[in-house]
Amino acid sequence: MGRVFITGAGRGLGLAFVKQCLERGDRVFAGVRRPEKAEQVQSLLAEYPEQLELVALDVTDADALEASWQQIREKTEVLDLLINNAGINSMSADAGGSAAHLRLGQLESDRILSMFNVNAIAPLMIAQRFIDLLEGSSSPRIVSISSWLGSLTKKSSGGNYSYCASKTALNMLMRCLAFDVLPKGIVSIVVNPGWVQTDMGGSRAKLTPEESVAGILNVVENLTETDAGRFLNWDGSEHAW
Ligand SMILES: NC(=O)c1ccc[n+]([C@@H]2O[C@H](COP(=O)([O-])OP(=O)(O)OC[C@H]3O[C@@H](n4cnc5c(N)ncnc54)[C@H](OP(=O)(O)O)[C@@H]3O)[C@@H](O)[C@H]2O)c1
Repeated sequence: MGRVFITGAGRGLGLAFVKQCLERGDRVFAGVRRPEKAEQVQSLLAEYPEQLELVALDVTDADALEASWQQIREKTEVLDLLINNAGINSMSADAGGSAAHLRLGQLESDRILSMFNVNAIAPLMIAQRFIDLLEGSSSPRIVSISSWLGSLTKKSSGGNYSYCASKTALNMLMRCLAFDVLPKGIVSIVVNPGWVQTDMGGSRAKLTPEESVAGILNVVENLTETDAGRFLNWDGSEHAW
């Protein structure tokens, strides 16, 4: 049994992580922006009252991050796995309109910076805050959900500035972190989940959230210290930086 904290747990990949971690017997702390609106996670509480706890967390809110640490620390001294999953793209409701992120001539610095905040900086701040709980685990892991769109090697067309660059930034920030936390025994990686059928990925996407998440959890199960800092696909294969 593991103790897992998942951000952006109310829908999409985050919700699939919650379900599969509960099914395998983990103690799950599900981070959601608005617990009262996270109906699908709320409905799991009845089935898993001992295993599941909702944690209010807008990942960009420093006070909420501190409160989330306090809430989790009251329930456990140790976390085994942190999954930095919350993210937005240019189509997300709170992105402020896609043109500000996509179209040369209409790009807006404040919109771009706020996407960097959610996708790149928040995962680092969350990891930093939870290192002390992770250190207590015999096999601590940090998994940050990145994207193939963050790959410099694969980028061969214009547009989609902020999402692509925010995931590239995430990759580097988490690679820096990976080598800092490895001496504590914490293995941190970034993962491309593939193209997944969620609100973000759309219905034409190739993978179901269940397939992607099962793959990622399998990858996490098999991580060793030699994997620290790597960029992997949901199926465990290497992704180009
Ligand atoms: N789907 C794909 O094909 C795909 C491909 C590559 C990478 N990814 C990455 O996979 C991760 C999950 O994406 P998804 O496909 O599940 O997207 P999604 O269906 O749009 O869900 C995004 C989740 O992130 C949460 N979130 C957004 N901003 C937040 C904030 N400031 N604080 C806390 N939570 C926040 C949302 O919460 P609310 O419900 O409160 O809005 C929601 O739970 C993201 O990092 C995404 O970039 C997805």
